[in-house]
Amino acid sequence: MSKEYRISVIPGDGTGPEVITEGIKIIETVADKCGFICKFTHYDIGGERYKETGEILPDKVLESLALSDAIYLGAIGHPDIKPGILEKGILLKLRFHFDQYINLRPIKLYEGVNTPLKGKGPEDIDFIVVRENTEGLYVGAGGCLKRGTGDEVAIQESINTRKGVERCIRYAFEYCRKRNKTKRLTLCGKTNVLTFAFDLWERAFNEVAKEYPDIETDYAHVDAICMWMVKNPEWFDVIVTDNMFGDIITDLAAIIQGGMGIAAGGNINPYGVSMFEPIGGSAPKYTGKQVINPIAAILAAKLMLETLGENKAASLIEGAVTKVLRDDLKDVAAGKMGFTTKEVGDLVSEYIKGESNHV
Ligand code: IPM
Ligand code: MN
Repeated sequence: MSKEYRISVIPGDGTGPEVITEGIKIIETVADKCGFICKFTHYDIGGERYKETGEILPDKVLESLALSDAIYLGAIGHPDIKPGILEKGILLKLRFHFDQYINLRPIKLYEGVNTPLKGKGPEDIDFIVVRENTEGLYVGAGGCLKRGTGDEVAIQESINTRKGVERCIRYAFEYCRKRNKTKRLTLCGKTNVLTFAFDLWERAFNEVAKEYPDIETDYAHVDAICMWMVKNPEWFDVIVTDNMFGDIITDLAAIIQGGMGIAAGGNINPYGVSMFEPIGGSAPKYTGKQVINPIAAILAAKLMLETLGENKAASLIEGAVTKVLRDDLKDVAAGKMGFTTKEVGDLVSEYIKGESNHV
């Protein structure tokens, strides 16, 4: 009997649905080819539902999502809704509820894609950021006093637990070993100023490192990482960091690999339900125009299948994406591809169908 996966789909807001349609098309193409089945269940979570019903993410939906093998998410964010409501109520809630403690963000410059970094090519830009995804400044600890007065006080605390930090670091070491590239893991921190939080990170890092003598370790402050990522991106293999720094450096990293049309990420609980998304956002002004590049969503699907253990399907997708980027797309940016969103999906799908079965 063929293996069957239950995939929950949250197309979400803006251009989310149109890129997710292409991602599903690709998943179905590879599933056919590799002999497994994906059963998709769609959920209308997002800005529109919130506007109509006031519901953000009902418990019933969470219970149902918990029964799936993975969640495939388009984008969350609506121009009529105050920033923070949907982000906290949907995206962050899902990450926390399913304890998706890793945010995995592969950064790779594919052939044919322009980078703003002068003199750098695909051989220089190929690394992974392992971002802690359930702690730090994102937990919402803190509060404010005397809001709106001249005496206002606002406190936002970064929570770092030994358990949370260590499991993230351990995942990064394992990932680095499995990836087997230059086997260098860089801790990105700020030990010179955040002397409590990053003291804990540094000690955990150095202790776990003893179990991985085959991995070379390195440390850099977050500000320096931003500098090196632009000047010498080839230095990096795997970078591990906390939630906030990970958020910031992965936007910088996304732009050096060609931008939001390409960037994909996974919110991973290695022992539970993980969630995969293009990291570009809902791009409301492009909604329905079929101009957004679906490659990020397709690469998120690739990451999802890889995490589910379907490595052959993942490499078929990557092979086809590599060809489309190298041979077909004029540019990766919205509206400049020379193709519609659907046409890009069709191209990837055709290349996969054309691959010999002996991969
Ligand atoms: C991301 C996003 C989110 C984050 C926002 C939308 C809450 O920027 O996935 O990087 O800060 O994590
Ligand atoms: Mn971000």
